[in-house]
Order: sequence, then C-alpha cells, then structure tokens
Amino acid sequence: MTRRHEGSSVIVTGAAGAIGFATCEILAREGAELLMVDIAADRLLARACELTAQGYRVVAHPADCADEIEVRDYAETAMASFGKIDGFFNNAGIEGDLAPTHEYSIEMFDKIIRVNLRSMFLGLRFVLPFMVAAGKGAVVNTASIGSERGLAGACAYNAAKHGAVGLTRTAASEVAQMGVRVNCVMPGVIETPLLVGMLEQMFDSVEEGMAKLGQVATLNRVGQPREVGDVVSFLLSDEASYVNGAKWEIDGGALATIRNDV
Ligand SMILES: NC(=O)c1ccc[n+]([C@@H]2O[C@H](COP(=O)([O-])OP(=O)(O)OC[C@H]3O[C@@H](n4cnc5c(N)ncnc54)[C@H](O)[C@@H]3O)[C@@H](O)[C@H]2O)c1
Repeated sequence: MTRRHEGSSVIVTGAAGAIGFATCEILAREGAELLMVDIAADRLLARACELTAQGYRVVAHPADCADEIEVRDYAETAMASFGKIDGFFNNAGIEGDLAPTHEYSIEMFDKIIRVNLRSMFLGLRFVLPFMVAAGKGAVVNTASIGSERGLAGACAYNAAKHGAVGLTRTAASEVAQMGVRVNCVMPGVIETPLLVGMLEQMFDSVEEGMAKLGQVATLNRVGQPREVGDVVSFLLSDEASYVNGAKWEIDGGALATIRNDV
C-alpha cells in the first residue's frame, strides 16, 4: 500500500456519500488526515467513526456546501484543525428529479444548480485562498460523463456538470502559477445511492437500469465508488504534479466509443 498522502490534510465534501466516503477510506489509508463534510450529519458522524475506529485522524464537519457561511466555516475549521489544506475533493452533489427540459420544475432547477454548481464555486472560493497563500495544493472537482453529453431528463444536473468543467478549467488557469493544481473527474455510471435514485425514475427496476446502463461502458459493467476514489487520490498526490485543468474520465470507456455491439 502506498503512503503517498503521509502528513497531508484533505477536505472531502459529500464525505458521507458513496464516492466521497470511498475516497476518504483510500486517502486515510494512504496517510492523509481528513476534514469530512456532508449535510447528512448522522450519516457523516457514523462514517467518520468507522475511520476513527481504524486509527485514522478525521474530523467530521456537518455543513451545507451551498451555504456561503458554512463553506467559509469548513475551510477555516480545516485550517484550525490541521494548520494547512493540501488537498480538496469538491464532490457533494444531488441528482434531482427527472423531467424533460420543457416541463422541468423551475424550483428544482434552481435547487440543483445551487447544490451542484454554486457549492463547487463556494468550495473553490473559500479553500483556494489558503492554498494560494501556502503556494501549494491540489483540488479535484466532481464533474460527470454528463459534462460531455446531454442527459435526457436531467437538464439542471447536466448543466451543472458542464459548469463543473468550466469552473475547473478557469480556476486551474488562475492558480497554476501559484503552486495549486485544479482538475476534475468525470465518473460514468457508478453504483451509488445517487445512481439508484436516478434509475428508480428511469426504469421499471433498479436491476434492469443497472444492466442497461452498464452497457454504455465498453467494460460492460457499472463502476464502483472505489474506482473513482483511486483516481482522485492520484490527482491529489504529487504523482500528478504535471496534471492541471484536466478532466479524467472514469467511465469504463463509455465516452471513448459509440457502442455498436449491444
Ligand atoms: N453515482 C454516479 O453514477 C455518478 C456519476 C457521475 C458523477 N457523480 C457525482 O459524484 C458525486 C458524489 O455522488 P455519489 O454518487 O457518491 O452520491 P451520494 O448520494 O452517495 O453522495 C452525495 C453526498 O453529497 C451529500 N450532499 C448533498 N447535498 C449536500 C449539500 N448541500 N451539502 C453537503 N453535502 C451534500 C449527500 O448527503 C451525500 O452524502 C456527486 O457530485 C455526483 O453528481 C456520480
């Protein structure tokens, strides 16, 4: 096992969720101390306790990532707890209701943009200043394969995930010469509660949806949260020292081809 994050401190948002927690487990095993942030306080505390019980140093910090005061607060808490912020996984998100764009609830649209895009901007807005001041740091934002394609029924989610790439590229170009890298990951179809929430709305059964969506990947299966966490860990590490402003597909090959064999 590599200890590539030994001595580093990392903030993870959406840390009580599937991808967030799988990433926390990997980062903790690899030596990082963590500030775990999520709006679901009970689930977050339970997840943090799992890691504490294994001897890892983690701080659970319940917060709404779309709220300016709460985001400023989690960034300051990380500084107060660890004295520095080396890595930031800007990952919290929700799937929202599905409906065609011409029928989409305006209230739901605003909510999805708030939670999936505003929260990402706020995270950058309040964490980057500490990294810039230190002249060192790495950020990974969670985009999606929906950042590269339309996603019928999910106009707000899809627009937010396109926006995630824009935020990544712009921030990357602004802070690169100050020692800070900003990249994003584009998970494909990953087996998580968020995916199940979408499948329940799209298919007769979750199993049918899982099998069908697994076929968009040339690997012919859906992905697991750990498979996203491993790439995030790499991008946050010095091993990715020449990777900046990039979008990393973690999609089993889905975006690479138009499948004509299924
Ligand atoms: N599962 C997939 O197939 C998939 C594909 C592409 C991208 N993603 C993205 O991955 C990220 C993680 O999703 P996941 O699949 O692990 O889902 P998840 O539902 O397991 O995790 C998301 C977490 O975010 C938290 N959260 C929601 N709103 C919040 C807020 N306002 N403030 C703080 N925390 C909040 C939730 O409580 C939850 O714990 C999301 O950004 C999602 O859009 C997921």
